[in-house]
Amino acid sequence: MKKSGNISAIRKLFKNFNTNNSEAVGDFYDRTTEMFMATHGDVIQSLRTFDISDYLNYTIKSAVLKDNQVILDAGCGVGGPSVYFAKKINSVFQCITISSVQADIAKQKVINEGLEKKVIVQHADYHNVADIFGKNYFDRILFLESFGHSDKKNDLLKAAWDVLKPGGILYIKDLFEREVDDAFEKKRIREGIVNINNAYKFNVGDLHQVISKLRKLYFIIEFIKIPDIDYSQLDSFAISTAFQDKTKIGLDPSKEDSVFPVDYLEIRCRKPDFDFKKNRNHFYLNRMNSF
Ligand SMILES: C[S@@+](CC[C@H](N)C(=O)[O-])C[C@H]1O[C@@H](n2cnc3c(N)ncnc32)[C@H](O)[C@@H]1O
Repeated sequence: MKKSGNISAIRKLFKNFNTNNSEAVGDFYDRTTEMFMATHGDVIQSLRTFDISDYLNYTIKSAVLKDNQVILDAGCGVGGPSVYFAKKINSVFQCITISSVQADIAKQKVINEGLEKKVIVQHADYHNVADIFGKNYFDRILFLESFGHSDKKNDLLKAAWDVLKPGGILYIKDLFEREVDDAFEKKRIREGIVNINNAYKFNVGDLHQVISKLRKLYFIIEFIKIPDIDYSQLDSFAISTAFQDKTKIGLDPSKEDSVFPVDYLEIRCRKPDFDFKKNRNHFYLNRMNSF
């Protein structure tokens, strides 16, 4: 067989295996949502408090969710967070998930709660929000442990920028790869990241790359920090460990030699309400004048 023939045969083979990441994530949640709900209830987040309403109340505060906003819940799971928020806040929540199974469960939940006018659920890919909603549509965009699934994070941030109104807030709570100097720990962290990515169809983010893209888009970074919750009430590890028995990823932070591979961080940033490209100093001048 000619060399070029070989190459095209190999290309064809890879093309067939080159599944779209979003579709793969959707399939993953179609298959596992029942299992997640058995351990996590209707809020599918691993960093959480024993009483999940404490964590959701914290999210309301931290993401500055208020009345009369249009809010995108990007990667909404089965709608647990948005349904909770909508009972407290008089705003409209547009929820999207890549899993049709989750979308059906979320839609039913919204009907059961009589929240049809406030919570709208769609089965869609969050990378396409600009096509779905158009520019300058949202006051808030939430990614609650959902951003890290994306394999096109730069495109996703650009789409978030486009659909956010000037002055609006993008809020990301997610897992990011830990950084250490120690070579042994570094290796264990890498292994842990590969395990998480495989087990959860995830793409654990690199904080540097994400922050760099946010700044290049001209987002104003308000904070990057660990969630400011009462850590005596942290429930993540109990739940994760029970769940991990099923996924076999073997992260047990209670073991002495374990190296936890991720930091849970929240990033809050704001789209400027002025043309940052034309008037870069405006923000700082305003700030200085207010001192
Ligand atoms: C760990 S769950 C978090 C769910 C929800 N935020 C919560 O707090 O319960 C991750 C979510 O991200 C969604 N997701 C991942 N990739 C997506 C994509 N490309 N488009 C839309 N949703 C996506 C999944 O469908 C899932 O609902």
